[in-house]
Amino acid sequence: MVLIFLVPANFLCARASHAPCACAHICILWTRVFYSVLIMVVALLNVICFFQKLKISFAAKEIDLVEWEGDMLAVGVAEKDMAKDENLKYKNSIMHKLDSRLPGLLSESSSEEDFTGKTGQYMVLRLPGLGSKRICLIGLGSATPAIASYRNLGETLGEVAKNTKSNKIAITLSSTDWISKESKLATASAIATGVVLGTYEDNRFTSESKKSTFKSVEILGLGTGYEIDTKLKIAEVVCSGIIFGKELVNAPANVLTPGILAEEATRIAAEYSDVFTAKILDVEQCKQLKMGSYLGVSAASANPPHFIHLCYKPPGGAVKTKLAIVGKGLTFDSGGYNIKTGPACSIELMKFDMGGSAAVLGAAKSLGQIKPVGVEVHFIVAACENMISGTGMRPGDIVTASNGKKIEVNNTDAEGRLTLADALVYACNQGVAKIVDLATLTGACVVALGPSIAGVFTPSDDLAKEVLAASEIAGEKLWRLPMERSYWKYMKSGVADMVNTGGREGGAITAALFLEEFVDEKVQWMHIDMAGPVWNYKNKSATGFGVATLVEWVLSHSLFVLISNRNVMIT
Ligand code: BES
Ligand code: MN
Ligand code: ZN
Repeated sequence: MVLIFLVPANFLCARASHAPCACAHICILWTRVFYSVLIMVVALLNVICFFQKLKISFAAKEIDLVEWEGDMLAVGVAEKDMAKDENLKYKNSIMHKLDSRLPGLLSESSSEEDFTGKTGQYMVLRLPGLGSKRICLIGLGSATPAIASYRNLGETLGEVAKNTKSNKIAITLSSTDWISKESKLATASAIATGVVLGTYEDNRFTSESKKSTFKSVEILGLGTGYEIDTKLKIAEVVCSGIIFGKELVNAPANVLTPGILAEEATRIAAEYSDVFTAKILDVEQCKQLKMGSYLGVSAASANPPHFIHLCYKPPGGAVKTKLAIVGKGLTFDSGGYNIKTGPACSIELMKFDMGGSAAVLGAAKSLGQIKPVGVEVHFIVAACENMISGTGMRPGDIVTASNGKKIEVNNTDAEGRLTLADALVYACNQGVAKIVDLATLTGACVVALGPSIAGVFTPSDDLAKEVLAASEIAGEKLWRLPMERSYWKYMKSGVADMVNTGGREGGAITAALFLEEFVDEKVQWMHIDMAGPVWNYKNKSATGFGVATLVEWVLSHSLFVLISNRNVMIT
């Protein structure tokens, strides 16, 4: 994606040309002063609003690496760039330059430390001779790195910076010549996003809160100017959405109830009230809409359900495309009467069963700041808990969804699809052209694709193309799986229109087939099963998965964004 700025022509002229007369000269001077002050005020406002939480600034610069002054200079090194010539000097010019300045110590220590540039390897050295206090080499591997690799690179750097208490860091890549201009923007954005996420720690539930002192990241060698600055600005805002999503998922179910989730959604709408309106439906209103499937799931819970609908209307009002994003919002999934038992069921992690809704609300928070023009977006979450009580749904009960379809609940643990059924019907009623839903829907999808990749299901090749392209730019991993219609036979009921589970085999596919029953044929629809990537088992915390892809997808439907109150055109 390329970003072009619409800066008033007179501002550009004032910089480029000589004034023909004194009067014009003064006029141009004032224009210059005016825009400089305006830009400073906007920048200051951003700092006040945004950095309160993140306190990190990004900048793209072109500086001689050996002269750069700060706490840590990092280099993302491809394996090939560790190659040396017959005199044991690096062939790569950046590595050569750094090594010559040190002199030879980089080469010597990387041999000693066995640093070869493999993915995930890193090495931190405190060496005299550079402007920087430390140098950090991070491996990029041997294959052409995808955007996701740059995000990982940034994350490693963020972690190292945190551990070494480095406040001012810079990063460059050993080779960039094969990266296209567009990819350079996405690369810079991915690195920046990674650094923020690698540095971020959720300290809300610990007695001691470690305050990060991390301040600035300079990205060197990927270009300078308005385009990259805006891309980095968008990355900052997307980070705020990802962190918000992480915090929602990390919050335990006794803190984050459906009511609190609805309050958080309302807060987003209030914060960006120029573009958002919020509607929260209570049980009675959901009953009126005949959402029997969703209300069946919430029936056992002491915490009432809240149906969340945020509507984003673009600045200027004109709408070219209407989209909906629907997220599974189970603030806790006990399994219901089909209770989750046994060591592998992870009942204690089922606070993360609202990961889909966290992605949806995280994207809303980011888009509220980016303000894309020409696109209307509906953010929809049927939030509730899946609990057990005398008022709860029994296995074998039959519920009726808001499109009239009757479902025999053969397993109360397949509750996500029951809530999504009514949410999808509601989304279609908003007159949208496309719907993407995200859900931690099946353990089967984790078995199929492992913990890092989300499964994608859609009958639309066009929508698949769009969202997969967005996920690639965002650095999130999605993989399309088939909507195998012949498996519908497993969903047949003897007494109702369908059952809600089709058995263990192909469980992610039968779940997607179930959801399709609740989507209008006219609407392009995609289901993303993110049961794997919602959680980082190594760090024992949420990933914020989905936010970045959703933002990119929405932006791909917009020509302009009004981030920082500037007009930015996207082509
Ligand atoms: N929330 C779970 C899916 C899940 C399981 C997510 C493990 C992440 C990790 C979902 O509600 C569920 O329980 N699905 C069942 C469906 C089955 C009963 C057909 C499952 O996957 O076991
Ligand atoms: Mn379940
Ligand atoms: Zn669930």
